Amino acid sequence: MTNLQGKRIWITGSSLGIGRSLAHELGTRGASVVLTARNEETLNTVGREVENLGGKVSIKPGDVTDLERMKSIISEVESEWGGIDILIANAGTHIPSDPVQFDVDEYLNLMNINYGGMLRCMEAVIPGMLERRSGRIVGVASLAGLRGMPTAAAYSASKGAMINFLQSSRFHLQDHNIGITIVNPGFVRTPLTDKNDFHMPFLIEPEKAAQIICNAIARERSEVSFPFPFSWTIRLLRIIPHPIYNWIMTRVWRRMKNN
Ligand SMILES: NC(=O)c1ccc[n+]([C@@H]2O[C@H](COP(=O)([O-])OP(=O)(O)OC[C@H]3O[C@@H](n4cnc5c(N)ncnc54)[C@H](OP(=O)(O)O)[C@@H]3O)[C@@H](O)[C@H]2O)c1
Repeated sequence: MTNLQGKRIWITGSSLGIGRSLAHELGTRGASVVLTARNEETLNTVGREVENLGGKVSIKPGDVTDLERMKSIISEVESEWGGIDILIANAGTHIPSDPVQFDVDEYLNLMNINYGGMLRCMEAVIPGMLERRSGRIVGVASLAGLRGMPTAAAYSASKGAMINFLQSSRFHLQDHNIGITIVNPGFVRTPLTDKNDFHMPFLIEPEKAAQIICNAIARERSEVSFPFPFSWTIRLLRIIPHPIYNWIMTRVWRRMKNN
């Protein structure tokens, strides 16, 4: 088990929700956190909260769709702190998609933030990790990335892309002592899910999600899916034959439409 105390950890999307709770949890565990999101004011508030919990903080506002900014954040952190040990690529969003009202720009925009955002942050941190022959990349994907879900065509695609990219990258990066942890949360209560108007099964609090994610990082796990009952339901849905999956999800979709 890796002790996260003193580890230099870059968390994207750390102004709200899961990212904010991760910053708190890692601050409590004595890590040094670099906080990135677009809203600098909210980041400053989270930074003060983390310092009060005992963590060291560096505020680096930025948009994960801006590669040059992601690279400049890392060069600033390399000169201030000597580098990043762990990247948590968490910044992301969800927009429900209805392919009857097809909107390619919206779908590609979601891909650019969720999947493209992770790629840009990886491009920024990997050279330093290769040089130090040490590092870990944590991608916050989703259970929705494991199989296509109703209303989530674009979101499931972006999270599936993250999962597959990281699973494949693992083979190359592990030779350089860079580990990969893929995180697949179910429903977590955050400003993102506060917008949902449907029942969210097995909804958990962001503090609980942050604890599970930090434990998985400390244990250098390759993949973690939670919460337990929901993740096993989704895993089962993943392995059952397509006709049975389609039959079940058609009924789920009809029920969602009628509510
Ligand atoms: N909540 C869930 O149930 C759930 C389930 C599975 C997976 N996830 C994933 O977990 C991650 C965090 O979700 P959340 O629920 O905590 O969402 P959230 O409450 O909406 O927070 C999203 C965070 O990402 C930042 N962000 C969004 N777009 C950004 C961009 N272009 N550049 C930089 N930062 C950006 C936001 O800050 P700014 O607006 O200030 O930039 C905010 O800090 C996402 O990747 C999400 O897909 C969430």
